[in-house]
Amino acid sequence: MTTPEREPIGVIGTGYVGLVTAAGFAELGSEVWCIDIDADKIERLRRGEIPIYEPGLAELVEKHRGRLHFSTDIADALEHARLLFVAVGTPPTYSGDADLSAVNAVVASMPPSDRHALVMKSTVPVGTGRSIKRIFSEQGKEGFRYVSCPEFLKEGSAIADFLNPDRVVVGDDGDWAGDAVVELYRPLDAPLVRTDIASAEMVKLAANAFLATKISFINEIANVCEVTGSNVIEVAKGIGLDDRIGPKFLQAGVGFGGSCFPKDVNALKQLAGNSGYHFQLLNAVIEVNELQKRRVIGKLEKHLGTLVGKTVTLLGLAFKPNTDDMREATSLVLSARLQAAGATVRAYDPVAEEEARHMMPGIAFADGALDAAEGADAVVLVTEWDEFKTLDWADVAGAMQGTLLIDGRNALDADAVRAAGLTYEGIGV
Ligand SMILES: NC(=O)c1ccc[n+]([C@@H]2O[C@H](COP(=O)([O-])OP(=O)(O)OC[C@H]3O[C@@H](n4cnc5c(N)ncnc54)[C@H](O)[C@@H]3O)[C@@H](O)[C@H]2O)c1
Repeated sequence: MTTPEREPIGVIGTGYVGLVTAAGFAELGSEVWCIDIDADKIERLRRGEIPIYEPGLAELVEKHRGRLHFSTDIADALEHARLLFVAVGTPPTYSGDADLSAVNAVVASMPPSDRHALVMKSTVPVGTGRSIKRIFSEQGKEGFRYVSCPEFLKEGSAIADFLNPDRVVVGDDGDWAGDAVVELYRPLDAPLVRTDIASAEMVKLAANAFLATKISFINEIANVCEVTGSNVIEVAKGIGLDDRIGPKFLQAGVGFGGSCFPKDVNALKQLAGNSGYHFQLLNAVIEVNELQKRRVIGKLEKHLGTLVGKTVTLLGLAFKPNTDDMREATSLVLSARLQAAGATVRAYDPVAEEEARHMMPGIAFADGALDAAEGADAVVLVTEWDEFKTLDWADVAGAMQGTLLIDGRNALDADAVRAAGLTYEGIGV
């Protein structure tokens, strides 16, 4: 797959997206200069330590140590590469708009140049490219090119997503920089959508908004299934086989979280509002998701009565399996609500505990699922890690004080759970 004369690149921001992008392009043969302002992170990366959990990433970084160069100095990337991929964070502000301060800091640090281009991988509001080009022009840096190249990788399968993308979207002004980005991705043989910058920016926001809508939709169907005696798993199968709908993102559960969906959906809603359009559908998508996280409390109260003095175990804390990312995880809302309702919360996650410790005060962390279930009145599966699917439910039942198991992701074998003497409650089943 590699060719000897691949374009060297710079990657600014070595978080989930930056590091995967860097390792992925190194796999395709590029020398990559990885820049981050976090000196500690860069030091760890130089030592070969990977600061995040992402399957396959450590191996790929190790495989290409000779091609991956880590630095805190942007000048290193500018010296060696024409294309500077920007993968800094764009977290939500209090207003719900994207916080572009890290992006703006990168833009401000660029020197006048006719030889370089910024390639935006960070998820930014529509219009960001236009305003960055205006800033470049006001500062006498009009020679600096700009390309929007939104990222669609999924944490947990990010390497595979990078190497085998559903599509590559490149938004540009039809100049050398866009051509060079297209060329970089060519070996992946993915469908290419080459378009203008604003449309590329909108593709990313619209894709996440659509996926979030699908999740909130099936969660509402699940809630109606609960009151009408139907089973959302069967319903999802029945509608998902329609190829206009498709089976993905039709798994009912306790709501979506993560670093992207909540912030990007909100950012699109705010972007529309700022532009004078009231995006009603997204309001509902967001509200349904917030309520969905809290419905677990109602289910617990239905079986246990008051939660005061009860012990509830959360299995899985990360926002989804195969990551340690805790950003906007449903477990954060659940643990806070449970504690507010007077419950004691025990928890276990195979990899996210270190992240979770900073964010979940007052929680007792356990070393394994069985340990976490010890003395619990109820166990709630929050994140469907594989290891929970193969638990010995008789052992779990033996460790618990009560008998209630809430399967917040409809991921468990309900019959096996019931056979162990536990009361099984899923979402919409
Ligand atoms: N995480 C995902 O699954 C995902 C998927 C698609 C798109 N995105 C988008 O990609 C962007 C990055 O997301 P992430 O999850 O990788 O974020 P992250 O927080 O994991 O990483 C961001 C990195 O940027 C660094 N940084 C901040 N300011 C910097 C600066 N001025 N110069 C150099 N480095 C700087 C930070 O130290 C950090 O290491 C966001 O806009 C996000 O919405 C994320």
